[in-house]
Amino acid sequence: MIQNSVEGCSIFRYFVDGCVICRGLRLFCGPLCEIMFRMNNFWDKLPRPFFALAPMEAVTDVVFRQVVAKAAAPDVWFSEFTNATGWVHAGQKAIGGRLVKTDAEHPIVAQIWGGEPGDMEQLAAHCAELGFDGIGINMGCPAKSAIKSGGSALIRQPELAAESIASAKTASLPVSVKTRLGYTRVDEWRDWLAHLLHQDIVNLTIHLRTKKEMSKVPAHFELIDDIIALRDEIAPQTLLTINGDIKNRAHGEELVAKHPGIDGIMIGRGIFHDPFCFADNSCADSTNPSETTFSSSSLEEHRYPQAGSPELTRATERPSRPEDSTSFSEGSAFPAEASQERQLDQIAASRPEEKDGCEVEVGLGNEGERGNKEDQHKQQLLQLLSYHLELYEQWHEQTGRPYETLKRFFKIYVRDFDGAKDMRDQLMHTKSTDEVRQLIK
Ligand SMILES: Cc1cc2nc3c(=O)[nH]c(=O)nc-3n(C[C@H](O)[C@H](O)[C@H](O)COP(=O)(O)O)c2cc1C
Repeated sequence: MIQNSVEGCSIFRYFVDGCVICRGLRLFCGPLCEIMFRMNNFWDKLPRPFFALAPMEAVTDVVFRQVVAKAAAPDVWFSEFTNATGWVHAGQKAIGGRLVKTDAEHPIVAQIWGGEPGDMEQLAAHCAELGFDGIGINMGCPAKSAIKSGGSALIRQPELAAESIASAKTASLPVSVKTRLGYTRVDEWRDWLAHLLHQDIVNLTIHLRTKKEMSKVPAHFELIDDIIALRDEIAPQTLLTINGDIKNRAHGEELVAKHPGIDGIMIGRGIFHDPFCFADNSCADSTNPSETTFSSSSLEEHRYPQAGSPELTRATERPSRPEDSTSFSEGSAFPAEASQERQLDQIAASRPEEKDGCEVEVGLGNEGERGNKEDQHKQQLLQLLSYHLELYEQWHEQTGRPYETLKRFFKIYVRDFDGAKDMRDQLMHTKSTDEVRQLIK
């Protein structure tokens, strides 16, 4: 941990650049900067286990994060990944709305990626100015356009990975890494993760698959205990977050109980199946068949490649994004309009009853009760969709996302009730938020 601040405030940097914490004044360097760094390190203050919403390109933007916050908030947020070289050379145009956030979103980590440490340093400093609480480096993206200069390509360039981490640390924010087990073979995990753990990062998130495996095989839960042992041996101060195929909070807690030593759980696609997946009353063993597999939605197979391509030829124009097509191929309190607050209060009030910490899904007394429960669930989902529409209207100029991009979210809210498919089909033909409102009222 000390290294995290010392990197940014080393004797060398101190004399050459001045202290990055006291911005060159050289007034408070040394132990005081270390104290300030520790005070700024939100990771140490998170509950155990903590839950994180996975960074997901074209999904976890400022709008969707606010929807999730209202449904059931995780403990830590991530931005979509943002390319450092694109930003350095083409600025805002290259990164679109990826770093747009509300002032109320805390703690939030800016996820950055790239293959040029100097660019990583500059983007990390920019993220600090924007008010992000941490920097997360993506070293796991398998997309072709990403591995030209970063993402999972760094698994094969460990020295560059170390340099990127050191560069990001100069922004004096806690630096974390999200990666995979290896590039081609699962047995690469030990050397690769050991290398990362030697870089003194605050948190290491591991998507328990290799780059080659994409999301096509089950996550390697069988390696969790060995990974914990490695972390304990090399860097006990580095938090360990597990990611891959985790459905909801209860499923995450079950894993933590089986593998003590996990500090955090990151959930990605689980949110597509249940926007309430971070709620305390989620059930690990979902009785809803659609929640038992992650293979049903084309959104989940998305390979998040188009984010801020480092190719500078294209960096000056808005990069093509997955949401530019019409399908998804692959409590913190937020400021909200009174009407939004009311809607979400209704959602909270109409959550299904709990029993022993789990929603009552089975053993319902009779058809009438079951029908009533399904209707309540439908209303909750449609109210969330309604909230999403309002937020979209509020933020779309800043995020730069056209109306078509909204359509990718419909399946999250319009599901698991009679007539859902028909409703979705009709929604896909809409051209405005008002048309959607007409259909769902
Ligand atoms: C649509 C989509 C977009 C993604 N975008 C990113 C991203 O920008 N950065 C990142 O580190 N991982 C990204 N991922 C990977 C997820 O963060 C996560 O590691 C992966 O989905 C496995 O977790 P899960 O099984 O809980 O979904 C993306 C995944 C999906 C499905």
